[in-house]
Order: sequence, then C-alpha cells, then structure tokens
Amino acid sequence: MRFLPLILALSLAFPVASDTHEDINKTPDISGLPSKTNNEVEVLHWWTSGGEALAVNALKDMMKEKGHKWKDFAVAGRAGESAINTLRTRALSGNPPDVAQIKGPEIQEWGERGFLVNIDDVAEEQRWNELVPARVSDYLKVDGHYVAAPFNIHRVNWLWANPDVFAQAGAELPQSMDEFFIAAEKIKAAGFIPLALGSEAWQETTLFESIALAIMGTDDFRKAFSEHNSDLLTGEKMRETLLTLRRMKQYTDADSPGRNWSDTTSLVIEGKAAMQMMGDWAKGEFLAANKVSGKDFVCIPAPGTANQFSFNIDSFVFFKSSDPQQTASQKELAKLILEPDFQEEFNLSKGSIPVRVDINMTRFDPCAQDAMQAFLRAAATDNLVASLSHNMAIGRASQVALFDVISRYYNDDEVNIDETMRHIRAAVLADKL
Ligand code: GAL
Repeated sequence: MRFLPLILALSLAFPVASDTHEDINKTPDISGLPSKTNNEVEVLHWWTSGGEALAVNALKDMMKEKGHKWKDFAVAGRAGESAINTLRTRALSGNPPDVAQIKGPEIQEWGERGFLVNIDDVAEEQRWNELVPARVSDYLKVDGHYVAAPFNIHRVNWLWANPDVFAQAGAELPQSMDEFFIAAEKIKAAGFIPLALGSEAWQETTLFESIALAIMGTDDFRKAFSEHNSDLLTGEKMRETLLTLRRMKQYTDADSPGRNWSDTTSLVIEGKAAMQMMGDWAKGEFLAANKVSGKDFVCIPAPGTANQFSFNIDSFVFFKSSDPQQTASQKELAKLILEPDFQEEFNLSKGSIPVRVDINMTRFDPCAQDAMQAFLRAAATDNLVASLSHNMAIGRASQVALFDVISRYYNDDEVNIDETMRHIRAAVLADKL
C-alpha cells in the first residue's frame, strides 16, 4: 500500500496512456501543424516571480527588436512542474508551443522522441563548443547534436541570510550543520523565523539536497543519486540526512505549507526570517526589491557545502514546425540567448552566472562573483554536482516520485525512516522503468 503514492506519482510523470506510448517514440508528423506566418513565437516558461520576469523581459525585448512577436505562455508554480505538465498535454495533442523551458535529462527524453529542432548551425556559428563548459553542453545535445540553448548556471546549494536579523539575535552565520542549529536556536529565541521554507514538495527536496550534499559528500552523493548505489541510498548517511531534514522543521513557521518560493524569500527580505536555503534565483528577488548584496542580504554556501557546487542549467528547446520561417525565428531566439549582451542582462536579474565563459563579470554583485569562483574551484576539484531537485541528476519520472517521498516524510512525523529510504531508492530508479 505504501507504494501507492509512488505509482500515482509515476502516472503523473507519464500521463501518456499506454496505447499512445508507441506513437511518442516515433518522429511526430509535423506536416499538419498550423503554419504561422506572422513571426509569432509562443514561449512556454515558468519565470513569473519578480526577478525571473525581469530576466525574461530582456529576451522578450530583444526578440521584439528583431521583428518577432513573443507570445507569452507562462505557467507559474512548483519550479516548472506545472509548466511541464501543460507542455506534455499540448505536445501530445499535436499542438506544442514553439519554444519551451526544459532542462537536464528531460531534453534527451523529448529529443529522442523526435520533437526538437536541431540547432547545430547556431551552435557552430556562435562557437558554443568553445564558449560553454563541456559539463554544460553535454546536457544540450541528443546523439551529439545541439537541441537546447542554455541561459545560465544556477548554484542550488546557497543559504540567503538577513544580517540584521542575525545581529539582533546575536547569532553567527553558520558554516556547518552544527552551527546552523546553534544559530537557529538563538534566532528562534529572539522571536524571528530561523528558516524560511515554503512547504511545497520541490522546496523541501531542494533543502534535502543541500543537507544530503553536506552529510554525504560529493562522491557518495553522486554514487547514490546518479549511480543508484543501493547501500548509500538506504545507508547511515541517508538516515542522518533525513533526520536533519526533520529536525529543521521546528525552525520553520506555521504558515509554511504551500507558500511559494518567492513569497518565502520575501520573509528574509522583510526581516521576518533569518535564512532561506534556495538556489540563486532567490537573489533575483532581493535585487528586484532593491536590496544590496553584502549589506541588506548575504549569501553563503549551504552549511557544510562550501566546496561543492550543485548546478542547475536553464535552457530552451524548440519544437519542430512545418513552417521554415518559424524554424528561422526559433533559431534566431536560440542565437539571442547566447549573445554576450543578453547573457549579461539576463543573468544580472536572474541571480545566476552566465553560461558563456567569456562574459565580463565586473557588473555582477559579490554573490555572482563568488558563484563563478565556486564553479571554477568545484570544476577543478571534481566537486561539481548535477542538482537532484532541479532536474539535472534525474529525469522527470524519478523527480516526481522523489518529491512525493520527501514531502510525505517531511510533513508527517509518523512516516517511517527506513521505509522512506527504500522509497527514495525506488524513486531514483523510476526513470528506468
Ligand atoms: C528552477 C529554475 C530556475 C528558477 C526556479 C524557480 O527550476 O531552474 O530558473 O526559475 O526553478 O522558479
């Protein structure tokens, strides 16, 4: 019975009925797709928060300048889960948008099924092979051909803090998990919310990821989640990770359930909460609220993960169309995404660092400078880790299942830890079913 939620999660991840499963593996018949001749590009994405909207507006403006009409198809919520569900419905009914925000192994899933435009010519013209780190470009290709245009590199294992709240509570910024709990106690005693968390499955799993990185270390984290090592997935370090996650709950507030991530960041911005552990899209919210890095807010690596860099790369893919003009517009968009001016503008608002290695970083704030240094250091010391909670280490089926398992465990103290570990193991294997 305990597997029922998992099975439900899997059917959500693959809402395709089995009788249509065969069709999806064939190259879709694109001859019947409506031909658009008005230079309109419909773009499905989930960038709707303050910082995200500023970032994507830079792209909209540049597309407009080139004479294209941007038809916005923004589906907010759950770090893209809602958008991806919408995309599946649209694509499987033969009416995909022209462009969609997809990332990680999911790019392969769509590419292998024949849905995506080959953009090798754009990549060649802009020399992506030379400008984009290989660890990133591997995600953008199917059978060696580029099918996705990358925007950025986000670091997931960050802690965002309000220094004023720390000062009022007489607490120190935590470098380790032990220090986190010492600080959290002081902050709670001073009447603030120690840890801002929106209790949504993906936010809980983002927190779980940073704790797991700290407790398991890079090698075991990779062996567990990328190589599916059964002993590690159900071992002592996983137990400690889960216990630590549950222990953190007492430092969150009663209004946590269901709160979205940007409203959660606002608690830190407004000085109601001291910390949030979240990827650096959170920085976009601080900046959009005119807060200054190093003064109004600080960024430090999630406790115990200073050497590691859990990466999350945003990218757009382009759905095949029967109209050559449409394909040209899509490629124009792919090209714009990698243009140096756009890379700079977009990432200044988005909180991430540019995906091109040759962008001048002087306009970027100290957190972005730190992120760049941390990325280079992690690459040199083999501490770059594909994000678990943000679709880089695992595909959609595993992710949906994992979210469900972590969320059940976090929200119900009665849920058994051994059973949870077995379910985590089943979840990471779900991609292979
Ligand atoms: C992530 C995405 C980020 C950010 C975040 C919250 O999955 O990669 O760019 O948008 O969701 O919306």
